[in-house]
Amino acid sequence: MFERLIAGAGGASDGNVWMPPQSSTAAPAVDRLFYFIFWISAFFFALIVILAIVFVIRYRKRAGRVAPVEVPTHNTPLEIAWTVIPLLIVFVIFYLGFKIFLDVVTPPKNAYEVQVTAQRWKWMFTYPNGHVDENLHVPLDTPVLLVMTSEDVIHSFFVPDFRLKRDIVPGRYNKTWFRATQEGAHDLMCAEYCGTSHSTMLAQVVVHPPGGFEKWLAEASNFLAKLPPAEAGAQVFRTRGCAQCHSLDGKANVGPTMQAVFGSSVSTRDGKRLVADENYIRESIIDPQARIVAGFDPVMPTYKGRLKDEEITVLIAYIKTLSN
Ligand code: CUA
Repeated sequence: MFERLIAGAGGASDGNVWMPPQSSTAAPAVDRLFYFIFWISAFFFALIVILAIVFVIRYRKRAGRVAPVEVPTHNTPLEIAWTVIPLLIVFVIFYLGFKIFLDVVTPPKNAYEVQVTAQRWKWMFTYPNGHVDENLHVPLDTPVLLVMTSEDVIHSFFVPDFRLKRDIVPGRYNKTWFRATQEGAHDLMCAEYCGTSHSTMLAQVVVHPPGGFEKWLAEASNFLAKLPPAEAGAQVFRTRGCAQCHSLDGKANVGPTMQAVFGSSVSTRDGKRLVADENYIRESIIDPQARIVAGFDPVMPTYKGRLKDEEITVLIAYIKTLSN
């Protein structure tokens, strides 16, 4: 156990009982600083507790023992020592921490840029070619810059394997970057309490071997052409945030359920009735406030310009299948 702790403080580690694997270039330095602070804390904890116990036993009140007449109140060398030594230790911690902090917040110039949108309670990753995915896919050993914003409340982008955590604030862009050093899937979670489903705000960072990332991106971006319309629509529904407000099981959420909605007769807030056909669904996506279903608030944002016509078409094809 002790050797494993020490091992974690050395070179790249595959993880141990305390720490997940070190899977980014920043991870070893973060861990070294962590263990440095940890062992200093452990040392002083032990020193203080042991001395306290020794003194309590040694100087306890006993029969025949009198307190000295002159009780010392002051000892200058001792006081300087216990001020200067911790001060130096804190300076070293600050220096190491600040160095790592600067590395983590300063992305290299040639970094591959991905836009991150956090929304209660899912992640959306937008690649330079416009593809949107629910997981973050990246190439191995390449600097990746994340430009992150939130649609609603404060979230926090957290990948333990990369020792990477950064808050995401609505109305502004926060950046972070990393260079992944281990292929495969790494857990990505939200580290800021953002509401009832905070704990389910999970995704994965998939690190592809050289060449694999480009292949994945080309294939993933092509889903509209490759998949049958209803399946492509299901993917759009899942990845573009529809599922956050529209259930599939008949229960009303922030918005009406999509179960059996297509072809059904719907009452609007202004007391009219209509049949939910292709045109009504299209209108509700592009201009959600136009005709709102009775019992719901006008809270849906417009998807005009955010969804392509093709994507709306496959969404409608998918919503149709929910009425069968
Ligand atoms: Cu998003 Cu917690």
